[in-house]
Amino acid sequence: MAPDIKMYFCIQLVLALTGTGIGSALPGKSHSGGKNDPVLQYVVNNSLREHPVMTKLRLRTLEDPGSIMLVASEQAQLMANLAKLINARKTIEIGMYTGYNTLNMALVVPESGQVVACEIDDEYVNIAKPFFKEVRSTFR
Ligand SMILES: C[S@@+](CC[C@H](N)C(=O)[O-])C[C@H]1O[C@@H](n2cnc3c(N)ncnc32)[C@H](O)[C@@H]1O
Ligand SMILES: *[C@@H]1O[C@H](CO)[C@@H](O)[C@H](O)[C@H]1NC(C)=O
Repeated sequence: MAPDIKMYFCIQLVLALTGTGIGSALPGKSHSGGKNDPVLQYVVNNSLREHPVMTKLRLRTLEDPGSIMLVASEQAQLMANLAKLINARKTIEIGMYTGYNTLNMALVVPESGQVVACEIDDEYVNIAKPFFKEVRSTFR
């Protein structure tokens, strides 16, 4: 594929997955494009096992104007399940935003594990910090 075709494909994929594309085939995240999809909402209502601190961080993050960037809770749960399946001990996240998935990984790796997350924007890191602190005190 020529580079511009690849780029076009990537943009289409992102639009489809976030549910922001016109006539996108997929409903998108439960907190954005999939907000009004009854099947997705049913699945989320009945299958999500979200740590209480993650719930708080998600609700705080949804107040942020950039919250379209937040991983969907259903995507995060799938990722946690995959990490468990491979017995992940180390994770690295490039661009953690407000840290929802960072907490998700921290709750999955063993105590001897390591979670590394990078974020360029201090504003987002400062939103994340108190929630990281809180989860540390309630850990397991
Ligand atoms: C789509 S959001 C990440 C969402 C997050 N991983 C989640 O699961 O909710 C992308 C993030 O990457 C950050 N970012 C962009 N360029 C970066 C860089 N060069 N180094 C670190 N973070 C970066 C942005 O500030 C933004 O918070
Ligand atoms: C999902 O839960 C929300 C909040 O409790 C509720 O308003 C909504 O009707 C539920 N949707 C489905 C499809 O179960």
